[in-house]
Amino acid sequence: MNKKTIRDVDWSGKRALVRVDFNVPLNDAREVTDDTRIRAALPTIQYLLDHGASVVLMSHLGRPKKKVAEEFRLKPAADRLHQLLGQPVKTVAATVGPEAEAAAQALQPGEVLILENTRFDAREESNDLAMAEELAKLGDVYVNDAFGAAHRAHASTEGVARYLPAVAGLLMERELAALGGALDNPQRPFVTIIGGAKISDKISVIENLLGKVDSLLIGGGMANTFLLAQNKSIGDSLAEPASVPEARRLLDQAQGRGVNLALPTDVVIADAFSAEANHKTVSVDDVPDGWRILDIGPETRQTFAQIIQGAKTVIWNGPMGVFELEPFAAGTRAVAQALADSDTISIIGGGDSVAAVEQMDLADKMSHISTGGGASLELLEGKTLPGIAALNDKSS
Ligand code: 3PG
Repeated sequence: MNKKTIRDVDWSGKRALVRVDFNVPLNDAREVTDDTRIRAALPTIQYLLDHGASVVLMSHLGRPKKKVAEEFRLKPAADRLHQLLGQPVKTVAATVGPEAEAAAQALQPGEVLILENTRFDAREESNDLAMAEELAKLGDVYVNDAFGAAHRAHASTEGVARYLPAVAGLLMERELAALGGALDNPQRPFVTIIGGAKISDKISVIENLLGKVDSLLIGGGMANTFLLAQNKSIGDSLAEPASVPEARRLLDQAQGRGVNLALPTDVVIADAFSAEANHKTVSVDDVPDGWRILDIGPETRQTFAQIIQGAKTVIWNGPMGVFELEPFAAGTRAVAQALADSDTISIIGGGDSVAAVEQMDLADKMSHISTGGGASLELLEGKTLPGIAALNDKSS
């Protein structure tokens, strides 16, 4: 990575203004139900504290519609951080302004403060520079460790970097080394597995990957549109007929580039979208009317597993079927298991595939699990992420 990191700064007596992504799920009692993102930020926070800094944290939580909303206060995340860090985390009911400034100024080296949800300020999401300048008053150096929000050009992720020295945190560095490293300089064979419901969301991802990978495995609902593009009947399966021409173009591109684009050859079909529905395995050439494809079949699982076994680098984004319903979970599980059993560099990017790996207790068998859904997809698309572009270059 050609960006400066927290290792390039002398922190002694400095106030670090750190953007984290504490956008974590909460239950009805407003308790954090998955603290992965908070844990992932600990190395950066601990590094800064150990090197003599005080730490002012900022994050968004949810989508509060540009105003204060009680259910999106950051208090539950602050409480969890307190437990994980083993030291008090101060809170303040403001994001910018005199109250936030007083709290930041009172902070001593070794202490941590968390500001209120950045999205309570209407100016955050429009990357308002007046807000960015107010945020910049709260620290001496800006640290962006919010990989999950790096695809957003907001005041706390992009604008603020214009007013302070701006460096990457350790999580940001790790995410870019894993995902960016695999995309730019993969050990080959390089395989990507793309799933999920909709092809229209991922056309530019597939397009970018076709210029990089040796094999591209496609499963999930989005494979159905490719099957349509091959003139197969898919019964009542979910598909996007409007994207069929795009799917045809991508199939041609894959062929032209010598990429092995592998689609399901057999599928698990059901007569309703329900765990109780009748279901069976058929060839992709034999999907009857009235039935819908809900998972990849055993032959496809085996083909995909073999390709994974032969790979040196694999990036996986998106489930192979409706894995939240037990009868249609085998495809997604098979991919997770094949990754766990192989020696390949395995990078899991994106919400549902991460959930599948965690449900199967295989997370520690993977080389890297990304904390960013949208951000990792945009990296796979080949886009420059504004929150990263705004940081200081190593050479500067
Ligand atoms: C995420 O959960 O993907 C990030 O925190 C970004 O959240 P957003 O999609 O609401 O910007």
